[in-house]
Parts: sequence; structure tokens; C-alpha cells
Amino acid sequence: MACHGLVHKQVGPGFVQIAERYRGDGEAAARLAGKIRDGSVGTWGRVIMPRQTQVSEAEARALSQWILSQQPPR
Ligand code: HEM
Repeated sequence: MACHGLVHKQVGPGFVQIAERYRGDGEAAARLAGKIRDGSVGTWGRVIMPRQTQVSEAEARALSQWILSQQPPR
């Protein structure tokens, strides 16, 4: 939570921003679950997201689905 806000960019993109980017992409949940465990760089900028090895595959899938379900605040 130091790196990701719910809505706006902090170190990494806000979860709502991620959800908006992949809205309608049926393969995003599986892809992002992989990136949570493997880490990522270059999709949103030049800052590296370190791999999150403490997160199990099942947890990564749950996190990914939760992130993609976020809606902008009304
Ligand atoms: C379990 C914890 C975390 C989860 C669930 C998570 C989730 C995500 C997701 C879904 C993305 C989008 C990847 C894409 O669009 O391809 C992302 C990107 C990113 N995250 Fe995280 N993240 C976590 C921890 C962190 C931490 C600890 C940091 C900072 C040290 C961080 C920094 C970033 C950055 C900089 C990006 C953009 C990477 C790029 O441009 O490719 N994240 N994160």
C-alpha cells in the first residue's frame, strides 16, 4: 500500500487506473496475477515493481481479480 493507491498513481499505478486500462480484456486477470509474482517494468513507466514472492499463485489471482473489479469513485 506504500506503492499503490486505490485511485491515483503513487510509486505504481492506482488500482482504478489498472482496472480502467484492462477493462474488457478477458486475459488480463491471469496476466496480472503472473506479473504480481514476477514483478514488472516498462508497462507504466520506468519504475520497477519488485516481484512479490510472498504471494501464492492463488493469492495473486484473487488480488488480480480484486484490482480489476475496482471502479472510479463517484
Ligand atoms: C502484493 C503487492 C502488489 C500487488 C498486488 C501489485 C499489483 C500490481 C499490478 C496489477 C500492476 C500492473 C502491471 C501491468 O499493468 O502490467 C502493478 C504495477 C506496478 N507496481 Fe505493483 N503490486 C504490488 C506491490 C508493489 C510494490 C511493493 C511496489 C513498489 C515497491 C509496486 C510498484 C509498482 C510499479 C512501479 C508498477 C508499474 C510497473 C510497470 O510499469 O510495468 N508494486 N502492480
